[in-house]
Amino acid sequence: MAKMAIIGTGNVGATLALLTLQRELAEVVLLDIVPGLAQGKALDLAQAGPVLRYDSRIKGTEKYEDIAGSALVVITAGLARKPGMSRADLLDKNSRIISQVAGRVKEFAPEAIILVVTNPLDVMAYVVMKRTGFPSKRVLGMAGVLDTARFRFFIAQELGVAQKDVEAMVLGSHGDRMVPLAGGSTVKGRPLSKALSQAKIEALIQRTREAGAEIVGLLKESSAFYAPAASVLLMAEAMLKDKKQVLPASVFARGEYGLEDVFIGLPARLGREGVEEIIEIDLLPSELKALHKSAQELKAIMARLPKDLFEAQE
Ligand code: APR
Repeated sequence: MAKMAIIGTGNVGATLALLTLQRELAEVVLLDIVPGLAQGKALDLAQAGPVLRYDSRIKGTEKYEDIAGSALVVITAGLARKPGMSRADLLDKNSRIISQVAGRVKEFAPEAIILVVTNPLDVMAYVVMKRTGFPSKRVLGMAGVLDTARFRFFIAQELGVAQKDVEAMVLGSHGDRMVPLAGGSTVKGRPLSKALSQAKIEALIQRTREAGAEIVGLLKESSAFYAPAASVLLMAEAMLKDKKQVLPASVFARGEYGLEDVFIGLPARLGREGVEEIIEIDLLPSELKALHKSAQELKAIMARLPKDLFEAQE
């Protein structure tokens, strides 16, 4: 069975561990900086095994040696949002944490695919690629699956239809400039624009953009984690089972959609190698414009990052 390491065993990391074990998708290593936290959660999760009938192995640790041999390393380490904070507000603190974690992953799991969850997502994925020097196909971020799930949920709720009957995709940055593709969205094969008015669609798009903040506002002390963990699971499964599934992911663009040198949400074929191809789908001119605007903002943030984040700090 493949080995998967989860760095950061907070809400997202621990939930992801449970989902992974329940599917018997991988052997799991949990690692956290807080002494005892990963070990405690690993023991607790292992003891759910006899009840939930899973047999996969799980280990909690503070030592990076234990992640050796991981096919996939998921990074959820860092701070989560509090009410009133944007994802961008996490930039300074989380980029330091991510740079340090990436350095350790490079050292102990140099062949792994790294899937980043920590926010601000697209920028953190960029820090990981720069710090590790890994090929871009082995670094990606989770956002599009989550944003798409939220958009589909809101559409299904509005229309009173089954969520599985709603097809949609959200691209662009994981933030205010995300790009929900209303043009290609369908409900039971019928264009969304035939099912809802333009004003209603706009309102659902806006709610999707603010969906993370809506949950932070309610939880106050933490940000969303069930849907984020489920979204990571889908991506992990696509890669570890070599499914070649096309999912929206934060990936490093090299000319696709006219975008270059930027991590941004695009449809990607995920398989054993990681990001095996960035898929170019037809976009409306307004969607392409929004994608470029989103990329411009991200590139400006990436360009301003202190360069020592890309070098060894230890
Ligand atoms: N190394 C390892 N673990 C770390 C480090 C580090 N350098 N720094 C922090 N952590 C751990 C914390 O101890 C904590 O257990 O990361 C964990 C983060 O967990 P939570 O605070 O519960 O945050 P969570 O909701 O899981 O979100 C994690 O994912 O969705 C994003 O915006 C969210 O950036 C946030 C990240």
